[in-house]
Amino acid sequence: MSKNANRQQAFSGNNRSTEVSTGGRTLKFIWIILAVIIILAICAAIAVPIGLILTKNNTATASTSSNTSMTNTTATNSTNVTTTTVSTTINMTTTINGTTTIATTSTTTACSYIFTNVASYSYSAPVGIATADINHDGKLDIVETNTGTNDVGVLLGTGNGTFTVSGSYSTGSGTYPRAVAFGDFNKDNQLDIVVANYFTGNVAILLGDGTGVFGTATLCTIASNPYAVAVGDVNGDTCPDIAVASQSANSITILLGNCSGAFGGSGTVKTISTGSGSNPQSVAFADFNSDGRLDMAVANHLTDTMGIFLGYSNGTFSAQTTYSTGSGSNPNMLTIADFNLDGKLDVVVVNAFVSYSCIFFGYGDGTFMAQTQIATTYFSEAVTSADINNDNIPDLICAHNSIGKIGIALNNGNGTFASELFTATPGGGPIGIVCGDFNGDSKQDVAITDAYSGAAKIFLNPC
Ligand SMILES: *[C@@H]1O[C@H](CO)[C@@H](O)[C@H](O)[C@H]1NC(C)=O
Ligand SMILES: *[C@@H]1O[C@H](CO)[C@@H](O)[C@H](O)[C@H]1NC(C)=O
Ligand SMILES: *[C@@H]1O[C@H](CO)[C@@H](O)[C@H](O)[C@H]1NC(C)=O
Ligand SMILES: *[C@@H]1O[C@H](CO)[C@@H](O)[C@H](O)[C@H]1NC(C)=O
Ligand SMILES: *[C@@H]1O[C@H](CO)[C@@H](O)[C@H](O)[C@H]1NC(C)=O
Ligand SMILES: *[C@@H]1O[C@H](CO)[C@@H](O)[C@H](O)[C@H]1NC(C)=O
Ligand SMILES: *[C@@H]1O[C@H](CO)[C@@H](O)[C@H](O)[C@H]1NC(C)=O
Ligand SMILES: *[C@@H]1O[C@H](CO)[C@@H](O)[C@H](O)[C@H]1NC(C)=O
Ligand SMILES: *[C@@H]1O[C@H](CO)[C@@H](O)[C@H](O)[C@H]1NC(C)=O
Ligand SMILES: *[C@@H]1O[C@H](CO)[C@@H](O)[C@H](O)[C@H]1NC(C)=O
Repeated sequence: MSKNANRQQAFSGNNRSTEVSTGGRTLKFIWIILAVIIILAICAAIAVPIGLILTKNNTATASTSSNTSMTNTTATNSTNVTTTTVSTTINMTTTINGTTTIATTSTTTACSYIFTNVASYSYSAPVGIATADINHDGKLDIVETNTGTNDVGVLLGTGNGTFTVSGSYSTGSGTYPRAVAFGDFNKDNQLDIVVANYFTGNVAILLGDGTGVFGTATLCTIASNPYAVAVGDVNGDTCPDIAVASQSANSITILLGNCSGAFGGSGTVKTISTGSGSNPQSVAFADFNSDGRLDMAVANHLTDTMGIFLGYSNGTFSAQTTYSTGSGSNPNMLTIADFNLDGKLDVVVVNAFVSYSCIFFGYGDGTFMAQTQIATTYFSEAVTSADINNDNIPDLICAHNSIGKIGIALNNGNGTFASELFTATPGGGPIGIVCGDFNGDSKQDVAITDAYSGAAKIFLNPC
């Protein structure tokens, strides 16, 4: 889905810096204060001896320096509230007239991952959601699709986790816009959007002007019940192309772009079967076999498989290889990242009717290990991956629509995950989910579309 595509590109590509840049400013500030306090305390403790030495010997020299190291550990306590403990060790080295002494001081601070809902924006049955900096102000913005009013809402970030509601754009009467993704389809360096219109079997393209304003939607016919979209260049012409997963058509439609912003010309629309009765609900691009060409992963909702198509970079793909997600699992959505830090992309699929997600570890050649299950407590609607605890390891953030919870599963560093913990304020009916640093503190926050309560909601990372 759109959010998938954006997120994956964030993990595998140029946006990664937004996730892994320097640690939280607040924590850093606390550390600096702590360091200063400790340095002052130690200086006070050694001031007397230094004074004595200096009095006795005028040729004495004294210098003081300190080195600081930090380790982060994460633990989940019995109420499933995860607490991260940040240990800070300061080595204070004091050299007096050639004699060196080292004093080591350790401090720990704890933080609980209780995300709170800082802002909500009312919309009619919102579903799709994607985030990017639309207006080039260095702050993440959000687009979301409203199935109640058949339009796209634009939220412009103010940089502190709140947003300015900035217009809604029709996707066409009776369309039921289900998913949204960004791309610069006319190569004017401004982000445009593509929306999958579930009831009318088409996609809407809305061209952006870079200020948060979008033009009138142009429609391009796809197939019945388009459910998810992904954007990437699949034919090596540097013009973004679009993949659309159409549920009841059991297919992926590839729309080749020519950088004009228009799609659907003769010879530019390719239909790829995902198998009889498969009902694909999620599609995403990534280079699984490191050949520099985009491959494609899909979640086949009714045939209980994750499908892989290897790309030839000419707009065509290999036949599908499928991997079982388990009988009766009904996979809803997938996300891609290197979860076990072996340098090879893995795929996580969340399921509609079983209380586990599936992780498929990649071998780096386009093939994958059979699934390993990740317990999820509840059925899952949507998933994204992001580094929630700033350890440079992708974690899982999951929308549990049926029970109105957002679950966060922290990665142990090897593709196994700690028990899910939940945000303090339930989501109502979270159906779309994205992560991004919405308040500029270098920590990944969460935004959801909550179809049941009719709102886009922002949850800030407290740690
Ligand atoms: C610990 O976390 C902080 C911010 O959460 C980050 O800046 C720092 O790099 C982390 N340290 C380690 C050793 O992972
Ligand atoms: C400090 O160094 C000087 C020169 O090497 C030496 O004469 C003096 O005895 C030293 N003082 C002490 C306290 O070590
Ligand atoms: C602090 O000192 C300890 C013990 O000497 C050492 O193991 C550690 O590496 C030092 N840390 C730093 C940041 O210098
Ligand atoms: C778990 O952490 C939460 C939040 O810090 C705290 O309220 C709760 O008491 C902790 N539970 C246990 C058993 O430590
Ligand atoms: C904590 O999570 C585990 C595993 O997901 C679950 O079995 C347990 O009921 C949860 N406990 C609470 C208090 O939510
Ligand atoms: C602090 O660390 C730096 C870099 O590792 C090292 O060059 C320096 O000697 C260390 N200083 C002390 C006082 O340990
Ligand atoms: C966030 O920024 C907006 C716009 O600058 C401001 O109106 C609002 O008060 C800020 N909110 C918080 C919680 O800082
Ligand atoms: C790009 O494709 C659109 C849609 O098929 C077509 O109308 C347009 O003429 C094409 N532009 C170029 C430069 O080929
Ligand atoms: C795309 O590339 C594949 C593999 O090189 C080749 O078999 C196929 O014929 C090509 N298709 C087109 C349309 O160029
Ligand atoms: C993964 O890491 C966790 C935490 O360090 C450890 O308990 C577990 O055994 C590891 N699992 C594998 C398969 O390496």
